[in-house]
Amino acid sequence: MSEGISQADRPEAPAEAEAAEQRDLFSKFDEIIHTRETLLASGVEDPFSLVMERVLSPTRAVCNGRDTILLGTYNYMGMTFDPDVIEAGKQALDNFGSGTTGSRVLNGTYQGHRECEQALREFYAMDHAMVFSTGYQANLGIISTIAGKGDYIVLDIDSHASIWDGCALGNAEVVPFKHNDIEAMDKRLGRIPEGAGKLVVLEGVYSMLGDVAPLKEMVRVAKKHGAMVLVDEAHSMGFIGEHGRGVAEDQGVIGDVDFIIGTFSKSVGTVGGFCVSNHPKFEIMRLVCRPYVFTASLPPSVVATAATSIRKLMRGSNKRAHLWENSKRLHGGLTALGFTLGTKEPQSAIVAVIMPDLEGGAAMWEALLKEGLYVNLARPPATPAGMTLLRCSLCAEHTAEEVETILGMFERAGKAVGII
Ligand SMILES: Cc1ncc(COP(=O)(O)O)c(C=O)c1O
Repeated sequence: MSEGISQADRPEAPAEAEAAEQRDLFSKFDEIIHTRETLLASGVEDPFSLVMERVLSPTRAVCNGRDTILLGTYNYMGMTFDPDVIEAGKQALDNFGSGTTGSRVLNGTYQGHRECEQALREFYAMDHAMVFSTGYQANLGIISTIAGKGDYIVLDIDSHASIWDGCALGNAEVVPFKHNDIEAMDKRLGRIPEGAGKLVVLEGVYSMLGDVAPLKEMVRVAKKHGAMVLVDEAHSMGFIGEHGRGVAEDQGVIGDVDFIIGTFSKSVGTVGGFCVSNHPKFEIMRLVCRPYVFTASLPPSVVATAATSIRKLMRGSNKRAHLWENSKRLHGGLTALGFTLGTKEPQSAIVAVIMPDLEGGAAMWEALLKEGLYVNLARPPATPAGMTLLRCSLCAEHTAEEVETILGMFERAGKAVGII
């Protein structure tokens, strides 16, 4: 039986009225519809609608009836099945119910939200922490609220969509510069009119190629021009830096960063977003930041899992060391097999394998899935320079043997598809 709405359930169409010819607002999507249809017509499985029928652990799931190794999640620290995290979520569900049904500024701040913010303050050793419903909303909210009309935002051209959307929402002047190019950033900052408000927005790890920003130099340049600095550490939290605080910590500039944005949907292993800061007026954000005020807060079970996970990540140095070993093993193995990777050296938990084109990428993606391996197929506009990528994200719970198994899968699939 179809899962869709039956014809009988559909509301009746209104009686036909005199009307001008309607311009179909969906016509702007024709190109992407055509690309998708052409791809699927080649007989390849749809890489963008895979269903995980069962999830067995941070590194295994059943997909299409097959036990599959997961190498395309953001579960870097493998916290999703941590027994303490799960127990905290269950208790919060029992004691506080399934949802808050309200905004943080009205009925949506529970004890758990406060505890989660306290865990973040301790994790980052910062004065203020503000939890949002997603990382997307954290960027949207903070960037649009602090940089408004007449202010300038200088940002890396490869920034995440949520950063671009935050810039657009706030109506600031947006000045992009070439990816990770310190000189270009310096020049753009130098051209901003005297006295204007300036915000530099950077990421610690760029998620498509898994490369790291030269934050040490960039933060110095930003400060030279009197700009405030926001760093999105979505893909480095928990893993990079001595305490897992990210690339800004690793490069010794965390004290000069004004705002750190992060997410619970990666190393923390649940959902939610946040901003931490030492700015003395930061708390006013809770009243003026629309994507914080005008949306419901996270369910109590989610903030309880997040707080427990964050506290455990403070003691995660062994896991961090093992994740680095995994990243080096995979990067070295794929290079030896002849694949072209996004970075020369392993720089993060992301290892991006560059595909010749979308068709080749989809064929390789499917061949890997049939081998029992799930990776992310990434394509423009998410990727830089029109690239098609197979993005591999390692987890601290992958064993060394699993990484070797993964390399064997890549070798067989790559030869079958003709990529190596
Ligand atoms: C750099 C970056 N920032 C923000 C986000 C948004 O995070 P969330 O999934 O919590 O909305 C992502 C998600 O992929 C990201 O890669």
